[in-house]
Amino acid sequence: MCFYLLNSYMTRFYSLLACISLVAVSCTSDTIEGDQLDLSLQNVIKQAAPAGRLDHFVLGEYTDLASLPQDPLNPLTEMKVELGSFLFFETGLGTVPKKEEGLQSYSCSSCHVPLADFKPGRMQGIGEGGEGIGYLGEARVKHSAYEEGDMDVQGIRPLTVLNVAYSAENTLWNGSFGSAGANEGTEDVWGVIDEATELNHLGYQGLETQNIEGLNIHRMLMTPELAEDLNYKEYFDSAFPDVAEADRYSNLTVSLAISAYLRTLTTSKAPFQDWLRGDMQAMSVSEKRGAMVFFTKGNCSSCHTGTALSATKFFALGVNDLDQSVSFQENEKTMKKNLGRAGFTGLDEDLYKFKVPTLYNLQGTSFYFHGSSKRSLEEVVEYFDQGIPENPRVSSDLVARDFKPLGLTDQEKADLVNFLEFGLQDNDVLRFMPTSLPSNNCFPNADEQSRKELGCQ
Ligand code: HEC
Ligand code: HEC
Repeated sequence: MCFYLLNSYMTRFYSLLACISLVAVSCTSDTIEGDQLDLSLQNVIKQAAPAGRLDHFVLGEYTDLASLPQDPLNPLTEMKVELGSFLFFETGLGTVPKKEEGLQSYSCSSCHVPLADFKPGRMQGIGEGGEGIGYLGEARVKHSAYEEGDMDVQGIRPLTVLNVAYSAENTLWNGSFGSAGANEGTEDVWGVIDEATELNHLGYQGLETQNIEGLNIHRMLMTPELAEDLNYKEYFDSAFPDVAEADRYSNLTVSLAISAYLRTLTTSKAPFQDWLRGDMQAMSVSEKRGAMVFFTKGNCSSCHTGTALSATKFFALGVNDLDQSVSFQENEKTMKKNLGRAGFTGLDEDLYKFKVPTLYNLQGTSFYFHGSSKRSLEEVVEYFDQGIPENPRVSSDLVARDFKPLGLTDQEKADLVNFLEFGLQDNDVLRFMPTSLPSNNCFPNADEQSRKELGCQ
């Protein structure tokens, strides 16, 4: 048993020093505690899961489409997923830029960068109007030919698209897209405050609906001619054989294909996933203790309830909005985003409430919460432990009742951070990125600076 502990520490690259002292101080008692820790953790997780089942938290696999949540109106097929995996990165789609300099130079992945866990590597994403990429997208800056007002930026931190299948019913921080789930009963406001939510009447889930509008917002347009030019025609024909040819190469089919692809992006190789599937060595002792805190004293699982630890529920934690003095301005829309769910429903009771995001792959960028107000997981955990809202605009009666001081010890906080940082990190998400595109275009960006950095000819 002693060797087993030592071995698991070594393979997780933990410091040998910590390991030796552990063995020297309390080998036997620790190993017993180890087995008990696994059992106790299984028990508290079962208590947190609907129907008491551990597998509530097991994510589906991209290799098994049937294991993934889908929209009945957009059933997953291999062909759709493959087409979407190209289009998500396709810079050739950017045919309706604000300025000529931007033509076919940006993609969805300008802001959802795989190496940065499908976030932008900076506090705010830049689509059209940016130049450069850097390693994680952190070096993408305003293009010299652009005014701030012509850039494609949003006044809120991008959400990751990892695990989006598990909150696909209602997407965005305010959950405004999607006809079902949390949006049942909100039909009266569709298309009212935010015109684009009119699309909810199509009846798709949030993901499929949002991506139709996403193409407009991000200045992309698919046409039969473009599909031909970029060598995608056959891919559309295989993916959408039942769609009439006149409608087959359009923003709607692009949205359905991209949505199918995005549904396959699950962090199924994270240590916590392996542990849930029975590999008790997948997590370190500290990560397991951190998971205990997550599901018990930390009360995190009271809101992060879903399979991917996300939820299509909305709460005010009183965090700060994007700092306007250091971010690009998205003009009048910015303020509406800051209202949270109320920016969609218009209801006072929804003011400053934001969607519960997934907690997997938090390592990629160090910008946390919808306004990027925290720069490390230690800061995030400290914020939850203190339970004091930082945003003076958010009055205490709006703040979630479960956001309250926790009284965690330093050890508990350190363990919780380890669980979040390592236990929930799938380090192989590049498996979801194509190596080249049918168009042979440079991706995820194709502006001059990015081309240089990416080594495109
Ligand atoms: C300019 C940067 C930018 C570009 C380009 C971009 N996104 Fe996003 N994405 C964001 C931001 C910001 C959010 C959060 C916006 C909000 O919630 O109001 C977001 C949210 C999302 C979500 C919601 C995830 C969830 O959990 O609700 C999906 C899905 C998504 N984007 C897909 C796409 C697709 C598909 C494209 C290309 C058509 C794209 N994005 C292009 C910045 C960008
Ligand atoms: C009252 C519900 C609630 C509770 C309890 C809760 N969370 Fe959250 N969590 C949220 C919401 C909502 C957000 C997004 C808030 C925002 O950005 O405005 C969030 C965001 C986060 C983020 C940032 C993710 C990102 O992508 O930026 C982390 C990390 C996190 N929570 C971890 C925890 C941990 C750890 C606990 C327990 C100590 C916890 N949460 C307890 C609702 C909750």
